[in-house]
Amino acid sequence: MKVLCYGSLNIDFTYEVDHFVQKGETISSQALRTCGGGKGLNQSTALAKAGAEVYHAGCVGEDGRFLLEQMEASGIHTEYVTVLREVRTGNAIIQNDRDGDNCIILYGGANHAITSAQADAVLDAFEAGDFLLLQNEINHLEYIIRKAHEKKLKIILNPSPMDEKILGLPLEMVDYFVLNEIEACQILGCRAETQGEEMAKLLRERFPAAAIVLTLGGDGSVYADREQFFRQPVYRVKAVDTTAAGDTFTGYFIAALLKGLAAAQAMDIAARAAAIAVTRKGASPSVPEWAEAESFLFP
Ligand code: RIB
Repeated sequence: MKVLCYGSLNIDFTYEVDHFVQKGETISSQALRTCGGGKGLNQSTALAKAGAEVYHAGCVGEDGRFLLEQMEASGIHTEYVTVLREVRTGNAIIQNDRDGDNCIILYGGANHAITSAQADAVLDAFEAGDFLLLQNEINHLEYIIRKAHEKKLKIILNPSPMDEKILGLPLEMVDYFVLNEIEACQILGCRAETQGEEMAKLLRERFPAAAIVLTLGGDGSVYADREQFFRQPVYRVKAVDTTAAGDTFTGYFIAALLKGLAAAQAMDIAARAAAIAVTRKGASPSVPEWAEAESFLFP
């Protein structure tokens, strides 16, 4: 069983700031870091570091060739990433404040240059039972989901960053949702006061064939499917940079399922890996190895 992550590849420019810049304000940063990012690349990195055989598909410009080298060094197969001449690689301008929080501006670039011909060629290399992991940073998502469903791939959707395009997708074809409360609320069209566990139950009612992983920030996460419903606590750490913590969680959760672990164990190792990622700077460089995630001693 193979796992394909069809998703974004970004060059992340992270500015370390005291506070996020306000309207009309100009501020200085303490440092600028450049590293590989994009929800797709980060999740592929987490899958690979957790020991999965992962194939990444997507597009970069010539300026993004170094991302392919980084991914290959992490053990990710990159033969389904197309290097385009005319388009620049997607990028993210990230502010990382003194509390470890971030805010992000995205430029889609090559991530929005995926063609249906590329999607056909990539998906033809995968077969029934293989996993397909998607986020919301590439174009042609609907086409990819329909084709993958036709081929009986298991579809995992992390609808992040959330926008109205997600609501137009054939969500009934998704086998696993990994999402946060804001994304869940928008998909459900629910009231603002609807809380975590209630929201997970509503998602399960709306998508009875799917498994739901609902992340609740500092309150941990909830797993729900037809047979199980349980909560996973968060591992408390001092946050340095939260960028890619959610991506680490998603990649680890899927990798653990592929290893044959039960949902409860998969949620636990995903929570451990995400907590470690928060203690480190950067997106993909913050993802830990499986052995470390397993043995890390939390305070
Ligand atoms: O989830 C974190 C990622 O979001 C960053 O790496 C950035 O590139 C954006 O896609």
